[in-house]
Amino acid sequence: MSSPRFDVISIFPEYLAPLKLSLVGKAQENQLIDVGVTDLRDFAEGLHKSVDDTPYGGGAGMVMSPEPWGQAIDSVVSSSAADHHELIILTPAGKKFDQKMAYELSTSKHLIFACGRYEGIDYRVTEHYQAQENVTVREISIGDYVLNGGEVAALVVLEAVIRLIPGVIGNPASLDEESHSLKDENDLTLVEYPSYTKPAQWRGLEVPPVLLSGNHGEIAKWRAAQSEIRTRKLSE
Ligand code: 6GU
Repeated sequence: MSSPRFDVISIFPEYLAPLKLSLVGKAQENQLIDVGVTDLRDFAEGLHKSVDDTPYGGGAGMVMSPEPWGQAIDSVVSSSAADHHELIILTPAGKKFDQKMAYELSTSKHLIFACGRYEGIDYRVTEHYQAQENVTVREISIGDYVLNGGEVAALVVLEAVIRLIPGVIGNPASLDEESHSLKDENDLTLVEYPSYTKPAQWRGLEVPPVLLSGNHGEIAKWRAAQSEIRTRKLSE
């Protein structure tokens, strides 16, 4: 069984350096995942290795040209042993990323992250790969604000997805209790209850006594109530 593969295509490959660190770096060292970063510029032609041009129809800014993207995506597709590829185009115009999407993506054998810059990528790139039956295209945004490019968004999605892959997190039971995995009786998504550790007193503040009681039933009830309160406060 080969490990899932993650390819990131960007004109700023250095931006993806954090993928060598922490949990994601460890997962690569342990061969649980395989990560590649591709410089889009390597697929640009001509003296200036240009990757963008002015928009048809006019308007401000530049649009990324389809040809370097087509070449770069074809290259990572053909280097992969997978028979299906998930192409993630990072754009503020995409579907909002959430924990459910993270779980869906965590079962894929090959994810390709296309980090756009400027006013985005020529839309024919999306259309072309949507028509390929071995590729699923998803346009994803990480929230309602605008970044200069998709690189930071790719790091966010990668971290959320990779930590769900079996073996990546030491204690997988912790995944069931965390924010956005918890549900109330009406199936509404809850955030996590507050956590405390030693010392029992800090700057005059005490740990809620129920947590020191050893009564697991009462502790579970208190935590569920706190999750509800915290979730409710978020929509105020
Ligand atoms: Cl995926 N890209 C850019 N450029 N801005 C964003 C975003 C993505 N998600 C939220 N804002």
